Amino acid sequence: MDRIVIEGGRPLHGEIRISGAKNAALPLIAATLLAPGWHTLHNVPNLRDTRTIMALLQSMGVQWQWEPDGPLRINSEHLVGNEASYDLVKTMRASILVLGPLVARLGCARVSLPGGCAIGARPIDFHLRGLEKLGCTIDLQDGYVAARIDGRLQGNTVTFDIPSVTGTENILMAAALAEGDTVIKNAAREPEIGNLIDMLILMGCAIEGCGTDTLVVHGMRELRPAEIAIIPDRIETGTYLMAVGAAGGEVVLRNCNPEHLPSLLEKLQAVGLEIECGADFIRVARSAPLQSADITTMPFPGFPTDLQAQFMALMSISTGVAVIHENIFENRFMHVAELRRLGAEIRVDGHTAIVTGVDRLHGAQVMATDLRASASLVVAGLAAEGSTIISRIYHLERGYADLVAKLAGVGAAIRKEKEPS
Ligand code: UD1
Repeated sequence: MDRIVIEGGRPLHGEIRISGAKNAALPLIAATLLAPGWHTLHNVPNLRDTRTIMALLQSMGVQWQWEPDGPLRINSEHLVGNEASYDLVKTMRASILVLGPLVARLGCARVSLPGGCAIGARPIDFHLRGLEKLGCTIDLQDGYVAARIDGRLQGNTVTFDIPSVTGTENILMAAALAEGDTVIKNAAREPEIGNLIDMLILMGCAIEGCGTDTLVVHGMRELRPAEIAIIPDRIETGTYLMAVGAAGGEVVLRNCNPEHLPSLLEKLQAVGLEIECGADFIRVARSAPLQSADITTMPFPGFPTDLQAQFMALMSISTGVAVIHENIFENRFMHVAELRRLGAEIRVDGHTAIVTGVDRLHGAQVMATDLRASASLVVAGLAAEGSTIISRIYHLERGYADLVAKLAGVGAAIRKEKEPS
């Protein structure tokens, strides 16, 4: 197993190129199941999660080609399977994204139930209820969801209790091949959903309401392959912005979209970072001590839960007290115990963490517990005095392309090495 070693306290200077968004690549790859023929996806990040979903598609007979740094080309013409096994789903919950497209195209699909995960129970009931609304019969057998429909899915109104990102994506994809119109109410509005809608439109489906919480999908009997680019990863962007905030220095992030981070950018300015945005870049610099600011995680355009842990790391070295309220997931404070090992002063009360800034953090051995929690340890490690050693970094590799190289490229003393046995 690998680990990351950071010698903290060095300011960062230079440029970082942001990769394509993991959370957009996964649904867009799943959407290729809807139409036979060669699809071309540009800017797909080379990550453990994107490789996992490709292994899943390949197990169903999907052909694909992916040259290093080139587009990912996918053809689902000859599907020979319709099942996502427990072995794959347990490593990546987002495998549930194949359920909607498979049942829409083939009339039946089996996907393992994801089970719990580090950040909470994360049920999939909204996905299943939505598919039932479109006419599917859903059975839960032997740890699997079996979905089936005789003939085509039927358009209907699907209302989410609370906006679900992958739930909205699953219903959008299923509705694209349904007979008639589907109205999705209280839909999630994350930019990754806009990317998926753009792809479905290129595939020949008419969809209204993009960017709003009511989507109208005019289902088609057949769809055609598409060529599209994955949007920049806003969570990777936000993580590097906060890395610079923690370490100090001045960095330009290229190939990103500032419009996808409205609430984070506002908070970072409030805590005293200098932020300058262009159409596809953000320059960030820290020239004054960090102030504190409170956040509450919310669906887009609110503060993303996927950046909460990194913001907590940043607030650990602010000059005040920050109140962080986690509103999306029930168990997303696993990083608190690890940040405390670095000297952070954090008190947790239910879904709220109260962070009292300290003058400096000190390097220590810590353990990555989930994807974004791991990123917060990197942010904190860059600020800490001395060596921070982060083990179990396979979590990080699910969602950050070339993290060590990108940070080393702007002057961080960071390296990956084998865990001693
Ligand atoms: C997606 C993102 C994840 C992000 C999360 C919230 C992907 C691949 N993952 O996860 O990085 O942290 O959005 O922005 O895009 N819920 C239910 N029943 C359901 C579905 C969701 O109760 O059937 C609840 C969840 O427990 C959670 C809330 O709804 O409290 C939002 O979750 P959701 O948006 O569905 O998260 P994911 O799509 O799994």
